[in-house]
Amino acid sequence: MTRVLFDEVAAAVRGVPHMTRSQGQVLYEFIRETRPRRILELGFASGVSSCYLAAALDELGTDGHVLTIDRKNARDRSPTIDELLGKCGLTHRVTPIFADTSYTWELQRLLERDPVPAFDFVFIDGAHTWDVDGFAFLLADQMLRPGGWVLFDDLDWTLDSSPTLKNMTWVRQLPAEQRSTPQVRKVYELLVRQNPAYGAFRDENGWGWARKN
Ligand SMILES: C[S@@+](CC[C@H](N)C(=O)[O-])C[C@H]1O[C@@H](n2cnc3c(N)ncnc32)[C@H](O)[C@@H]1O
Repeated sequence: MTRVLFDEVAAAVRGVPHMTRSQGQVLYEFIRETRPRRILELGFASGVSSCYLAAALDELGTDGHVLTIDRKNARDRSPTIDELLGKCGLTHRVTPIFADTSYTWELQRLLERDPVPAFDFVFIDGAHTWDVDGFAFLLADQMLRPGGWVLFDDLDWTLDSSPTLKNMTWVRQLPAEQRSTPQVRKVYELLVRQNPAYGAFRDENGWGWARKN
């Protein structure tokens, strides 16, 4: 296994949230094994996960590409995804979309342009709420080809456990049940695991995997 690229990326993204080196390694090895050509990522923040995805594609040496979507305020992050990809020499592997509102709107545009399933892997690591990510999964499912994989990050994350969100007015105004429910897990359990079109389920270290039949 060529470890040089992985180690270079891990060094370049060190200290930048939101993905640990060991999570990055799991993602990297998954890409090397399953060899997806087109990857859709929902939620890039500073682009750490995007860099790991892109590095694995680069190591494969195919024409693989990542389309990744976040909100336009991701431009205010330090570093930005563009800076991080540039530092890793992986800009050519990733197209970031800075959405005005939400990736769900951008997925509507994508569907309109190309209704035929086109992605081989979808990584959902964005809003972590039922309303947004339940719908995002249903939209992404329309674009995931048979045999393709979906991965959810943060199955057990809750609004109550988020230091940045828990004191926001809109969160405090929610019913306690919605603040304390792991909403990504609800999406994974109810929309993915109970869906006969999916199998090969794996629930490990807060990540939920599934393959479309
Ligand atoms: C946990 S971070 C992503 C981390 C990144 N995948 C990584 O591992 O490096 C979640 C991101 O999702 C974005 N996000 C949340 N809700 C969103 C929405 N509805 N549309 C677009 N982006 C959203 C946030 O702006 C945030 O940057």
